[in-house]
Amino acid sequence: MSAAFLQVRGLTRRWTPAAKPVFENVSFALERGEFVCIIGHSGCGKTTILNILAGLDEASAGEVIMDGREVSGPSLDRGVVFQGHALMPWLTVRRNIAFAVKSRWPDWNREKIGAHCQKYIDLVRLTGNEEKKPSALSGGMKQRVGIARAFAIQPKMLLLDEPFGALDALTRGAIQDELTSICAETRQTVFMITHDVDEAILLADKILLMTNGPQARIAEIVVNTLPRVRSRHDIHHHPHYYRLRNHLVDFLVHRSKLLQEGRDDESTDGQQPRVVMPGLADPGIAPGEAGERLPALKQVK
Ligand SMILES: Nc1ncnc2c1ncn2[C@@H]1O[C@H](COP(=O)(O)OP(=O)(O)OP(=O)(O)O)[C@@H](O)[C@H]1O
Ligand SMILES: [Mg+2]
Repeated sequence: MSAAFLQVRGLTRRWTPAAKPVFENVSFALERGEFVCIIGHSGCGKTTILNILAGLDEASAGEVIMDGREVSGPSLDRGVVFQGHALMPWLTVRRNIAFAVKSRWPDWNREKIGAHCQKYIDLVRLTGNEEKKPSALSGGMKQRVGIARAFAIQPKMLLLDEPFGALDALTRGAIQDELTSICAETRQTVFMITHDVDEAILLADKILLMTNGPQARIAEIVVNTLPRVRSRHDIHHHPHYYRLRNHLVDFLVHRSKLLQEGRDDESTDGQQPRVVMPGLADPGIAPGEAGERLPALKQVK
């Protein structure tokens, strides 16, 4: 079998040599085209993991291999949407995006760069705000510039740190739908941090559950057994939905703490996270088979 597109092995991060690590021995893999969400309490180390995947921070131990190469610094192969926007305050919306596009395709002329930027500005519904600087934008608008910039460089992998947190429900829904269709069209590989279990169920193929820190780890890999084509409007009618949702909420409310204290040994299989399919009533059914047997949900735009 060929190696996974992204391989994360034995990742540990401590801030000082004497301190307990924020997380340790974190290992997981992403296949090309897979959409993976990570969920865990505030401060457990999700952003730190994402920064290491982006090449913006270094692990104290362990390695990250993407597409056969070790990640050892930032690259335009990875598009990042940061929790805190990270826009250049002296540049307009258009120029913030154009800067990244120019770096990605240095041979493109002005017209081509302009048209490409406009496509992504329109996509995130910022049409008409092209010449504004970040100081003149709301939090949600800044977040959308970050999303447009990350999408516009068409990276091999998107790394999204709570990208929809600051958006109103309507815009969030619209951009979630766009993200889903871009991912379906381009087989984009995505690693996304979210605090929203419903968002994770809507978007993810797999959901990584992280225990509380310090010494946090990935306790479980939850396989989303709902059919891949999903809609916000009727996903909750699917028979797997509440089993999956209850499993995730139960983890956040109870088990993340018990696991950190070592009082829940059910979910561990040595150092490797256990793979679970809580949507399935019959654990003997593989997810592919389940998807085929269950009624497909309509996609409502
Ligand atoms: N540069 C740093 N130096 C020292 N400690 C840090 C640094 N960056 C983060 N930390 C600490 O590491 C821990 C993990 O931080 P991180 O930002 O990765 O958490 P998170 O899971 O993304 O949290 P949230 O859900 O609130 O965004 C926290 O305790 C934080 O205080
Ligand atoms: Mg964070």
